[in-house]
Amino acid sequence: MNNFWMSKLRFINNYFETTKFYIVKKYFILLEVILVLSGCNLLAQQQTADSKGLKDYYKNYFPIGVAVSPWALKREDESSLIINQFNSITPENAMKMGPIHPRENEYNWKDADSIVAFAQRHHIKIRGHNLCWHNQAPAWLFIDSSGKPVSKEVLLQRLKEHITTVVNRYKGAIYAWDVVNEAISDKPGEYLRNSTWYQICGEEFIAKAFEYAHAADPSAQLFYNDYNEINADKREKIYRLVKSLKDAGVPIHGIGLQGHWAVNEPSAPQLDSTLRRFAALGLKLQITELDISVYPKEHVSRERKPVDSDTAFTAEKEQQQMQQYKMCFELFRKYKTVLSGVTFWNISDRNSWLDNFPVRGRKDHPLLFDKNLLPKKAFWEVVKF
Ligand code: GLA
Repeated sequence: MNNFWMSKLRFINNYFETTKFYIVKKYFILLEVILVLSGCNLLAQQQTADSKGLKDYYKNYFPIGVAVSPWALKREDESSLIINQFNSITPENAMKMGPIHPRENEYNWKDADSIVAFAQRHHIKIRGHNLCWHNQAPAWLFIDSSGKPVSKEVLLQRLKEHITTVVNRYKGAIYAWDVVNEAISDKPGEYLRNSTWYQICGEEFIAKAFEYAHAADPSAQLFYNDYNEINADKREKIYRLVKSLKDAGVPIHGIGLQGHWAVNEPSAPQLDSTLRRFAALGLKLQITELDISVYPKEHVSRERKPVDSDTAFTAEKEQQQMQQYKMCFELFRKYKTVLSGVTFWNISDRNSWLDNFPVRGRKDHPLLFDKNLLPKKAFWEVVKF
């Protein structure tokens, strides 16, 4: 069964989901079961697997990456999709400070090593994520044995030890690192985030993190990575930080734009001016965590409301998402000389962090592959150029 028919069936299914035709819906479910049992679904997946992947369509532009867990790589269907579609991998959590360095004298390499081994087996590039962040940092890092905050000297020494050990282990395997993640404040009028890093070290921890990473692997490309980068106020703060690092001779090579966007945000002019502004710094840019939520953008988590139970991926949402992906990739192609990578945050609509943000348990459909790992309409739009 080809994609055309699969997408028609999905459309009809969505329609019955949202109407009261329960009996028809029952028969439709039966038809779906027969199709799956008769191998049509498998055939459809096979067709995708055998055809060109995103990485092939974009081979003259930039690598196309995906954030993965070690478990996804063990599932046959997801790992084949990764191999066929992507030529860059980012460990979703396995290399963050907390998971990889849970106690002062203990590193947990298992998950990170398994992702690196998979990528190397399949000749896929690897982006390291990340070396210094206020979230998912282990509690021990900031306190001494009596529970009191450590001094700036101790914290910088711990940061140095952490970065040197992790970067060294994957030297030559990881071509780019998100060195510092999300150090800028979202609050109007406040420049840097008031994190524990900032409270103990002041601004200095940022430059130091880049210096330690560069000393450990002088060939790795080092990125500053942040979200809500399309917001004019935040964008200027990111610009200011990166420019000050560059002017001070700190080894920084690029800006990571996370790209957690939605059907209504960013607008084309907003994204265009963001890419233009950052490109003016003369560094590389990468879209590091792309997903496009089918719900209007909300920036902070909130309680569930009755309206949140309507999670169907309707034809209208599909259309809006397709337009938004089309616009984003048109602009990515326009900036191909400065853009050195576009990475999706998660593989398919089977699992996304957006299923729990901003509303816990609200299913989202933010990626180019559906829960059966089939390409969505947005996929065909992204590869049509
Ligand atoms: C941020 C981080 C990522 C990830 C996402 C949400 O963007 O950089 O590592 O945690 O949030 O999943």
